Amino acid sequence: MTEQKNDKVFYITTPIYYVNDIPHIGHAYTTIACDVISRYKRMKGYDVHFLTGTDEHGQKIQTAAETKGKTPQELVDEIHLNFKKLWEVLNISNDDFIRTTEPRHIKVVQAMFKKLMDQGDIYKGTYSGYYCIPDETYVPESSMGPNKTCPDCGRPLTIMEEESYFFRASKYVPDLIKFYEEHLKAVMPKIRYNEIMSFLKSGVKDQSVSRTSIKWGIPVPGDEKHVIYVWFDALINYASAIGYLDDPEKFSHYWPHVRHMVGKDIIRFHCVIWPLILIALGINLPVEVIAHGWWTHEGEKMSKSKGNVINPFEMVKEYGLDPFRYFLLREVPFGNDGDFSQLALVGRINSDLANDLGNLLNRTLQMIKNYRNGVVPSCVNPQSELSEMSINTLEKVDDYLNNYQFDEALKSIWELIGRSNKFIDETAPWKLAKDESQSEQLNFVLLNLYEALRLSALLIAPFMPDTSKKILQQLGDDREVLLFDDFKWGEGAGKTINKAEVLFPRIDIKEWKKSQEEKKKMEEVKEEVKTQPEHENEISIEDFKTVEMRVAKIINVEEIPRSKKLYKLEVDLGYEKRTVCSGIKAFFTPEELNGKIVILVTNLKPVKLCGVESNGMILAASVKKDGVSEQLTLLEPEDKNIPLGSRVS
Ligand code: MSP
Repeated sequence: MTEQKNDKVFYITTPIYYVNDIPHIGHAYTTIACDVISRYKRMKGYDVHFLTGTDEHGQKIQTAAETKGKTPQELVDEIHLNFKKLWEVLNISNDDFIRTTEPRHIKVVQAMFKKLMDQGDIYKGTYSGYYCIPDETYVPESSMGPNKTCPDCGRPLTIMEEESYFFRASKYVPDLIKFYEEHLKAVMPKIRYNEIMSFLKSGVKDQSVSRTSIKWGIPVPGDEKHVIYVWFDALINYASAIGYLDDPEKFSHYWPHVRHMVGKDIIRFHCVIWPLILIALGINLPVEVIAHGWWTHEGEKMSKSKGNVINPFEMVKEYGLDPFRYFLLREVPFGNDGDFSQLALVGRINSDLANDLGNLLNRTLQMIKNYRNGVVPSCVNPQSELSEMSINTLEKVDDYLNNYQFDEALKSIWELIGRSNKFIDETAPWKLAKDESQSEQLNFVLLNLYEALRLSALLIAPFMPDTSKKILQQLGDDREVLLFDDFKWGEGAGKTINKAEVLFPRIDIKEWKKSQEEKKKMEEVKEEVKTQPEHENEISIEDFKTVEMRVAKIINVEEIPRSKKLYKLEVDLGYEKRTVCSGIKAFFTPEELNGKIVILVTNLKPVKLCGVESNGMILAASVKKDGVSEQLTLLEPEDKNIPLGSRVS
C-alpha cells in the first residue's frame, strides 16, 4: 500500500474495551488522552479521525453472560451502552465507535483470516495448554497459581490439547525488527520500545488464532467448529472501522497516519502480534504505538474484590468534569504509573484551577470593567514580554503534545498563566488608573492580560473544553471554530467582555475531609449490613400473627429529663390514646416527630422506662454498628390517610 502525501491527517485509536465489566478510571484515562490529542490536532487544522469501541467476543464475555443468565448478545448489547454513556459524560469527541459484533467488522476479520489462510500464513495444528475445566478457560503459564492452579477459582489445571489454526508469526519477525530499527519512535516511550525489541529478539512462536472450546466468537471461514481467537478479532477493529473492505478510499486516507494508544499491559499484542499480521497482509505499520502506565488508588492496586476501583462517573459528579480531565493528565507523566488520590485532586482544583486560572480571569475582567467600561482597549504597540512568552508557549505545547507529554504541556500553559498573574502585580493597574497620564500604559497592560487569557483559553481547550468555552464567553469571544492559526496577539482590542463568573469554587479542605470521613463511615456501615445480616430463629406464621401492629399518629412529644435516648410520646390509635417511650431521641427533634403517622406494636407488655410507663413500641429500621444505631428511619404507611388503628399484617 502506498503512503499518501498528506501530512495533516491524524488517525488515533483507543483500545476497544471489554464489556464484561463496568468502565473504570483506566478506560477513562486512555480515552481522555486520545480526546485531548484529537481536539488539539483539530485546532491545528488536521483532518482527525478518532476511534474507540468495545471488544465483545471471547471467553470472558461468554462466562460473564452465563453468570448473569443472559445470552452473550444480550449482555454486550446492554453493557456497551455504559461505555457510550461514559464517553458522553466525559465529553469525548470520538468520530466513530466500533463494536466487534457489528457486520462491518466481522466480514473484515473473516476476509483477513481467509487471505492469510490462502497464502499459507495460517495453518491447522494442535494447541496445547493448561486448562481450567470448570471455568472452561486456558490459563497462560505466566498467570498460573501455585502448583499449577487456576488463578481465578484455585482449582487444579489440566493439560488440554485441541485442534487450532496458527498464524505464522515467526516468519515475519526479522521484518518487524528491521522496521523498528528504522523507526525509533514507533513504540513510545523508549522503555517500551526497548522491551518490545528484546522480546522480538528472544523469538516469537507461531500464534494460535482459533478455538474450538469457545462458542462466542467469529467463525473461521470454511471451518465453523472453530471461532477466531478474540485478540486476532479485536486488533482488526482498527482497520475494519475505517472501511478496509468497503471504503478503500477512506482506508487509504487515514491508515497511513494511524496511532494506537494503549496501556502498558497490552503492548505485545499491539507492537508484536498486530504488526506481524499487518506485514503478512501487506499493510503499512502504525506510525506510533503509545503506551501509558497504570493507575493505583491511594497507593493500592485497584480491584473489584478490594472495592477500591475508581468510578469515573462518581468522580465527575463530585468534582466536575474538567477538573477530573485536567487532573488525570497533569498529575502523572504519561507513560509512568500514577497514584489517584482525591486529596491531590482537590489540591489541584484549589491551586491550579481556582487560584491561578480563576484569579487571573476574575482580576482581568474586573479591571477591564472598572477602568474601561467593559471594552478591551487598544494600544499603540501590544507586544510585550507576555506576547513573546505566548509564542514560546505555543511552540512548547506543540512539541510536548507531539510527544504525548501532556503534563509538560499543561505545565508550560500554567507558566504563562503564572507569569500573567505576576504581570498584574508588577504593573499595578490600580495605580495606573489613578493617573490620567498613564492611560496608554494601562491600555497596554489590560490588552496584554486579555490576550494572555484568550490564548490560555485556547491552549486549555483540548484538556478542558467546557472551561475554555466559559472563559472565551466571559471574554466576549464566542467563535465556534477554534484554530490556533486564527489567533493574533492584539486582535482582541475592541471586544466587549461579559459578566465575570467563578469558574472553580474553592473547596474547603477541612469541610471536605470531614465529609470524606462521613462517607467512609457510611460505606463501612453499609458493608457491614451487606455482609452480616442477622437472622433470628425461624418462627411460624401463627407466632407472627400474635404480634399486633397498628397505624398510629404521634400527637405529643416530651423529653424525659433522666434519659439521653428516650422521648415520651403520646400516640393516637383512633380508638384510644397511649403513652409510649421510644429510644429515637438521637435521630429526631420533637418538631420532626410531631404529627408523624407510624406503626405501633400494640400488644407488648407495658414496661416502666425512666419512671414512665410505656405501652407499645414504634417500628423503625436502623443500621447498627457495634450494637449502636448509626442511622435510623421510622416505618410509615405509604398512604398517610389510612384510618388510625388499622391493623398491619
Ligand atoms: N479488549 C482489550 C483491548 C483490545 S484492543 C484491540 C482490553 N480491554 S480492557 O478493557 O481490559 O482494557 C483496556 C485498557 O484499559 C488497557 O489499555 C489497559 O491498560 C487499561 N487499563 C485497565 N486498568 C488500568 C489502570 N488501573 N490504569 C490505567 N489503565 C488501565 O485489554
